[in-house]
Formats: sequence, C-alpha cells, structure tokens
Amino acid sequence: MNTKLRGVKRAATLGAIALATVSLQPLAAQAAPDPGPQPGERIVGGTPAEQGEFPFMVRLSMGCGGALYAQDVVLTAAHCVDGSGDNTGITATGGVVDLESPDAISVKSTKVLQAPGYDGKGKDWALVKLAKPIDQPTLKIAKDTQYNEGDFTVAGWGADKEGGQQQRHLLKATVPFVSDADCEAAYGEDLTPGEELCAGKLAEGGTDTCQGDSGGPMFRKDEAGEYIQVGIVSWGNGCARPKFPGVYTEVSTFAADIEKAAAEL
Ligand code: ARG
Repeated sequence: MNTKLRGVKRAATLGAIALATVSLQPLAAQAAPDPGPQPGERIVGGTPAEQGEFPFMVRLSMGCGGALYAQDVVLTAAHCVDGSGDNTGITATGGVVDLESPDAISVKSTKVLQAPGYDGKGKDWALVKLAKPIDQPTLKIAKDTQYNEGDFTVAGWGADKEGGQQQRHLLKATVPFVSDADCEAAYGEDLTPGEELCAGKLAEGGTDTCQGDSGGPMFRKDEAGEYIQVGIVSWGNGCARPKFPGVYTEVSTFAADIEKAAAEL
C-alpha cells in the first residue's frame, strides 16, 4: 500500500494499489543506536551528508523531516501534523547532521498550520512555528515550475530501506525528475498531478526517500547556484521499488499559500 495514509479516507482511496504494506505514519522519534557515519548506501541508496552541507535541514520529534523556511518557521508535510493551532508538543532539532551531537539546536514549537483543506490527497504541506529562531541558513522555495525538472537532492533521517531503522546521521541522495505521465502510470488516481511531483529511478529503483523522511525537502540549485526547494517528501509505494517513484508535494503550486501562511503564523 502507499505509505502516507493519515486517516481513513486516504486509506480507502488507496485500495486500488494493493501491494505489500509498510508502516503508514511518521515513525517514532528515536534515532537508531549510533552506527557512526559509514560509507555505503543509505536514505535508501544514499550516503552520509557532511556537517553543514544542508544547514536548513531539521528533524521534527514526531519522526518527520522539515526545512527552515524562516529561522523560526519549519516547512514540513501536512500528514506529519495533527491539524492547526497552538501546539507546544513538537521539538525541532537543527544545526547538525548527528542528532545526538552536543551542538544540536533543539527548539519547541508554538503553533502549527496544516494546509487548509488538507484531506489526505495532495496539499501535503504544513508550517511549524518555533519558540525561538534556529540560527542557520534557510531554504527558499520555488515560486514557479521552472525548477521542476532535472536531478534533485533529498535528505533525511528516515529509514534506509523498507522497514529499516531511523537514522542518527543525516543521509542524502540524488533522484531524477519523473513526469506526471510516468508517475500516473504507477499510481493512477492516487496521484494529484497539479499538486504533486514525482522523482526516482523509475527503471532500476534503489534510491528514494522512505519512512521518516516525510516532511523533508527535495531541492536543487537555481540559476544563481543556490539551493531551492521544489518538493516535500510525501508518499510512495514502499521505498525505492522499480516503477514506483517517490511522490513529493509540488512546492511551487503552494508557494503563495505558504508565504502568506508563514507571514500570518
Ligand atoms: N510517508 C512517509 C513518511 O511519513 C514518506 C514515504 C516516502 N516514500 C517514498 N517511497 N518516497 O515518512
């Protein structure tokens, strides 16, 4: 089954693709016991990120990723949060690739804004307001579709394979753009093409985001050579399976809404 699934409605709509089921929710927050940065293949098919390489990356305590939209506002996925309003129950950890580093900056949330109208299909974005800023560079978001092509970077502390453990050290991977047509061939009506963007190695699989990476950014470089966020990790059928790319919230579709919501948060 596809693995975003917060709520019954989505679960019902997803019956069409009945394959092996993996866990549906953002995973529990604990990181795995320290394997130390190791060479080899992990996020799924990724490698360890360097300290400072993606300074906007944040881990959220419910077991999701996020990116600093502003120093005190994290952009994440709607399915990672429980609705909108005052919320002091989320801790954001930033400034480090190693979640257990003494240099980790941990800040509590004050409010959450879940995308208006979110019902489990599309619109998978949310903002988390922090009690104080995390003093790290932010990640700008794509405001139009021009960067929705090419190779993208994904990063996160999620599972390194289907059913795998959450990671203590941030992993990264590169995934190529997949067209809506190819993605619809995999997912049919579960895909909302105007609101979602797909990426992955269609033919061979092997590289993908996975459980616990949700809410984290998919990004690339813009014309100025600066990172720009084009996607938010949302869902997929399993992880890194051939023919089943990762599905990401299409950030450019919601850029104006995100900007407005952040200003009002
Ligand atoms: N829904 C997952 C989460 O909550 C993310 C799954 C991404 N799956 C994929 N095949 N790219 O962490």
